[in-house]
Amino acid sequence: MTGITVRVPAKLNLQLAVGPPRADGYHDLVTVFHAVSLFDQVTVEEAARDRVTVTGEGADRVPADHDNLALRAVAALRAAVPDTRSGPANVHVTIAKRIPVAAGLAGGSADAAAALVACNELWAAGLSPQRLGAIAATVGSDVAFALLGGTAVGRGRGEQLTPALAAATQYHWVLAFADGQLSTPAVYATLDRLRGVPGDGQPSREGGPREAALDTALMAALRSGDAARVGQRLSNDLQPAAVSLFPALRKTLTAGLEFGALGALVAGSGPTCVFLAANAERALKLAVSLSGAGVCRSVARVSGPVPGAAVISAR
Ligand code: C5P
Repeated sequence: MTGITVRVPAKLNLQLAVGPPRADGYHDLVTVFHAVSLFDQVTVEEAARDRVTVTGEGADRVPADHDNLALRAVAALRAAVPDTRSGPANVHVTIAKRIPVAAGLAGGSADAAAALVACNELWAAGLSPQRLGAIAATVGSDVAFALLGGTAVGRGRGEQLTPALAAATQYHWVLAFADGQLSTPAVYATLDRLRGVPGDGQPSREGGPREAALDTALMAALRSGDAARVGQRLSNDLQPAAVSLFPALRKTLTAGLEFGALGALVAGSGPTCVFLAANAERALKLAVSLSGAGVCRSVARVSGPVPGAAVISAR
């Protein structure tokens, strides 16, 4: 086989509860991941040396060297594959982006997950989903979920996953893309500052933020499959921090609710805004209204849940 193409979804966080900072600089969190139908495509082919080419949405803002998360994933997988005489081949990774960069939708993590699935196939490495998941977790907090897809609860840094019990409902979402980006570490640091956590990188002391907890009402709403109930329970602890760094988001969120969204929140660390609609028709109306109101750069309609990274062509 010479070329493998994998399709991989963006993620939303239906809940993102952030606990106090840990000694390693990360935050313990409890999140409800939800994969949606906005996909990047990642192709790997044998090559003389590992390299990456990025095309599409925001391609010029993706590092094309070894800082690229997909190339880091390739290196992590290679290290885990048993040594053969020649070793796993070098690869050229081509990323066709539709998931906007640094938008809170885990596009970089998605590409890393896709690279893992593609190389596992190209090298006929035969690693189990569990092994791939463990390698994914070393590459980034959201990479393991991009392998899994669906709707799942994430704990730890977000890498410890349990599929959520949910009704077989497809939810209709409208994404409002912002004219700008937010850096994930900056948003977490701003949250700590807003919470009055000492900025010494030390785990929080007495009186700091509480441990993150799963929203049982959201989980019940997902089991019922009632979009209106789900819409009422959407929550994101990072939202105040994202809005303080990007104040225009407040207007976007308000506009979406005024146009009839069942719920609204900032996606992950932002700046994309996410709206839940009652059905496909309402989603279309909402998307048209949001574009007309001039409160975002562009909009997309997506649905979820969708499966995680999967091979779509092998030649
Ligand atoms: O794991 P990942 O590289 O996606 O995380 C990016 C940054 O986001 C981390 O360096 C950290 O600043 C922040 N982060 C965090 N707690 C998490 C996940 C990410 O503080 N659970």
